[in-house]
Amino acid sequence: MLELQGLAVRYGAVEAVRGVDLHVGRGEAVALLGANGAGKTSLLRAASGLEQATTGRVLLAGEDITALRADERARRGLAHVPERRRIFPGLSVEENLRVGATAWARWRSPLASDLERVYGLMPRLAERRRQAGWSLSGGEQQMLALGRALMARPRVLLLDEPSLGLAPRLAEDIYVQLRRIASEGATVLLVEQNTVLGLSVAVRGYVLEGGRITLEGVREALLGNPAVHDAYLGGGPSPSSSPA
Ligand SMILES: Nc1ncnc2c1ncn2[C@@H]1O[C@H](COP(=O)(O)OP(=O)(O)O)[C@@H](O)[C@H]1O
Ligand SMILES: [Mg+2]
Repeated sequence: MLELQGLAVRYGAVEAVRGVDLHVGRGEAVALLGANGAGKTSLLRAASGLEQATTGRVLLAGEDITALRADERARRGLAHVPERRRIFPGLSVEENLRVGATAWARWRSPLASDLERVYGLMPRLAERRRQAGWSLSGGEQQMLALGRALMARPRVLLLDEPSLGLAPRLAEDIYVQLRRIASEGATVLLVEQNTVLGLSVAVRGYVLEGGRITLEGVREALLGNPAVHDAYLGGGPSPSSSPA
């Protein structure tokens, strides 16, 4: 469904992403893991068109969308939930959700049924539907950002560190939703520093280090690889590591 071929992103002299090949199958949830500064956000932004790739191609369901703007990619079904959410603080919860629906051709389905679906997934948003975005807690804002992306009925959901800045219990709340969405057949590319959380959703993952994929494998192989815990990543306890 989503394929990145030899993707590179450069900011002046900084080579943030250096020739990444990656694919996400239809209905598959894939994690992109890596430490802070590895290039995860840059890669995701290049996929959704918020950043222009210096080289490489982005394919969505086989169509080369590399030359398209971010809004054109969104209209083709690519939804990006950016790092640190970015909901509209002055709009209510429901207004935020309605904005999400405008990314996709609206006549495809009645808006009400999409709202019902999101409220069904995240009842806390339903309870707070009239409240302003700014009044929500960090975890609720992350839910709203996720709900807004789902309103677009995306073909591919790109998620950038949904747990960032959240207390562990709130992060787990979000991940309960993500596991449910993934199990219902969504196609997801999930960026995470926290290996254990990321691989609780994804069946397969890539490890990004210094802008390059250094490791790739199914969930069990990555979780069982001490290098994933000890060398690359800070997130999550390793069963094999001794307490420091
Ligand atoms: N807009 C930017 N301008 C210059 N350098 C950037 C910019 N955004 C990110 N970088 C650099 O690119 C590298 C990768 O950053 P980023 O993609 O944010 O990594 P991650 O999301 O894995 O933490 C880092 O060295 C970072 O400092
Ligand atoms: Mg990042």
